[in-house]
Amino acid sequence: MTKEQAELRARAAKAQERISVTAEGRYRCKYHLMPPVGWMNDPNGLCCANGLYHVFFQYAPESADGAGMRSWGHYAGPDLLHWTFYGVAIYPDTEWDADGAYSGSALPEGEGLRIYYTGNVKHKDKAYDYISDGRESNTMLIRSEDGISLGEKQVLLRTADYPKEFTRHIRDPKVTRTPQGYKMVLGGRLRGDTGAVLVYVSQDGIQFSLQEVVTAPEKFGYMWECPDLFELGGEEFLCVSPQGVPHERYKFQSTYSSGYFCGEVKAENYREWDCGFDFYAPQTFWDGKRRILYGWAGMPDVPYDNAPTVAEGWQHALTLPREITKKDGKLFQMPVREMEELRGEEIALRDECSAYELDLEKIAAGAKVRLGEALEILFQKEECVLRFLTQAGRGRTERRAKICAKKARIFMDVSVCEVYLNDGESVFTTRLYPERYAVEAEGGCEAKRYRMNGHTVRTDIRQQ
Ligand code: FRU
Repeated sequence: MTKEQAELRARAAKAQERISVTAEGRYRCKYHLMPPVGWMNDPNGLCCANGLYHVFFQYAPESADGAGMRSWGHYAGPDLLHWTFYGVAIYPDTEWDADGAYSGSALPEGEGLRIYYTGNVKHKDKAYDYISDGRESNTMLIRSEDGISLGEKQVLLRTADYPKEFTRHIRDPKVTRTPQGYKMVLGGRLRGDTGAVLVYVSQDGIQFSLQEVVTAPEKFGYMWECPDLFELGGEEFLCVSPQGVPHERYKFQSTYSSGYFCGEVKAENYREWDCGFDFYAPQTFWDGKRRILYGWAGMPDVPYDNAPTVAEGWQHALTLPREITKKDGKLFQMPVREMEELRGEEIALRDECSAYELDLEKIAAGAKVRLGEALEILFQKEECVLRFLTQAGRGRTERRAKICAKKARIFMDVSVCEVYLNDGESVFTTRLYPERYAVEAEGGCEAKRYRMNGHTVRTDIRQQ
């Protein structure tokens, strides 16, 4: 190990000494995955291998604002309810990833894993625009024999290997196995500022050749991050997180978007995963029986913040794991069935309980629920509105979904809330920092509320 590599490990170990202090934070969630300390963004390397679920994530242990090393953190566990934190999995510690071990994916292989990710490198010696010059994106591979300790880093594609019509923004490999070998999608920004996906194929998962570049016939944002490609019910879905699509009343309400194309890749066929304030860069995986999605319950470059958790030494969380199903050509999302195991006793609406599930049935048009003093959900005939009533939204205001909601399942977890409408036809994810948690319902709906118990997370594993 070089001196620099040892230094990075010492810095991470020092930052993680604060895990027990951070754990005391008032706004820590009870059944969502969060960074044990510091910053989290995209879910990475999601997979189920050898009976273990792996949830890696973009992790900056040194700062709740994301400064310092950008690495991969690692949670693993047998059942989506009991987790062990394994510390930093990938350090940005080589010349190919010195400025960040950026997002990517994992595939089970034998007893272990293959991990593909982007090695981000920034040149800092002159004034670059960091779009057409000044940065490198290396597509990297690491193998793990046991799913926990990682082997050598291997560079598969360098900046010079990508097609010339692209800017330097190319990243986030999502690799899948196909009957022919391997397929990899990468997100990118074409010259002229158009979002696109690069599709590569390979027989051995090491030597990749470009198969095609996929983009919409008319410009649909300037950059597509975190692509994903999967088949469900005989149909193929290409998922992307586009940046720079103009706001609309029911779509693209947040700074950036995340969604999927059903059929041909064009704007009309794009559907967003989530209409809330805090959802971005999701990833899916197949666990042998179903397709599961985790999103980042956060969003970059927003006019609102999470200052209350930053003050506690951490920021951001992942969504609940959501099972994806297909109905009438649309994808529906519901928390995986395992979450029901966390459901405790039924409680009264007025109870001041900060981790709960609220189930609404027979919702009449005009019905309204209020969560604490903070947030109101309004069910109208043709739309559903999520509205902050106080500063508990830290600058968050209003979001809408075009839907006639007849039922809803609402998962409140201290400072994150996920609202699933009509069995997951539309979802809102938001962060919130309320004073109170009692619920009020008016205007016609049947409400049942249950306490949610916490999942378990072990963080006492020594960093290797
Ligand atoms: C998405 C993203 C990815 C990148 C990662 C860096 O949120 O910008 O494109 O790999 O975050 O943390």
